[in-house]
Amino acid sequence: MDASRPEPDELKEVALGSSGLRAWQVNTASCRALVSRQGAQVLEFQASGKRPLLWLSEQAQYQPGKAIRGGIPLCFPWFGPHPDDAGKPAHGFARLRDWELVQAEKLGEVMHLHFQLQSDAQTRALWPQDFRALLTMTLGRALALQLQVENTGHHDFRFSFAFHSYFPVSDIHEARVEGLEGTPFLDQLHPDRAPAREDYPLHFHGETDRIYLHTPSRYCILDERLGQAIRITAQDCRSAVVWNPWEAKAARLADMRDEAWRHMLCVEPGNVADDAVTLPAGASKVFSILLEGEA
Ligand code: BG6
Repeated sequence: MDASRPEPDELKEVALGSSGLRAWQVNTASCRALVSRQGAQVLEFQASGKRPLLWLSEQAQYQPGKAIRGGIPLCFPWFGPHPDDAGKPAHGFARLRDWELVQAEKLGEVMHLHFQLQSDAQTRALWPQDFRALLTMTLGRALALQLQVENTGHHDFRFSFAFHSYFPVSDIHEARVEGLEGTPFLDQLHPDRAPAREDYPLHFHGETDRIYLHTPSRYCILDERLGQAIRITAQDCRSAVVWNPWEAKAARLADMRDEAWRHMLCVEPGNVADDAVTLPAGASKVFSILLEGEA
């Protein structure tokens, strides 16, 4: 099948809010999506005939250099707070920078968007490495993201990243994550504790912030009330972060409506903590996820 250029109504540039952020609206026979240039962040995705796959805060702020709450921000080149400098942005700079859309093509009903971010003076001020990151989105009846990181410098470097996916749930009390049973996790709410394991699916009863390490490649979110499963297949992503802020923490987040924490769950494949990646000079590595919603 030959690749073709998307028609203007299949890929349309739009404004996000009133502060100059740009985004692309994708509208094909197989799906609808909204992708922000800042962060190369998928904000919305809905396959035809299915429910929305991603959660986007109704109070998300669309401001240059400010993280957008929802969709799939990419955390890179570090995850969480910077290890030695609290003044540097949480979760790295990739979600705060404009990425370049280098190519858009259609193969049948499937849209492929290729974004690029390269090191420059601004990134070097935060992280002194030379790199090129390519993020490819495959938007069809499922959503796939592929991140390629290339070390374009002369020294090895180490980085962490996560596809910080926000998913909708009917009620967090009704949702569970299956597939991570028996997998060791660090509890970020108790950083002094040794890694733990549980032999049963993860249910939610309070604030949850776990880094699962050495994960299997498949796990899923089940929502009994909606009768829905969201299946995650991750390649070369050895970690999965699971986060829900619960009531008290959510109340401190200005970009989330009260009660919104009940209806979202982050499950974030990546390589963080002990699973961080070392990339030799001149080398590149690819990491990918496939997200499929099943009613
Ligand atoms: C999660 C982290 O991935 O992201 C949490 O595990 C963090 O610790 C959350 O609170 C949200 O981070 P931010 O920077 O987007 O508010």
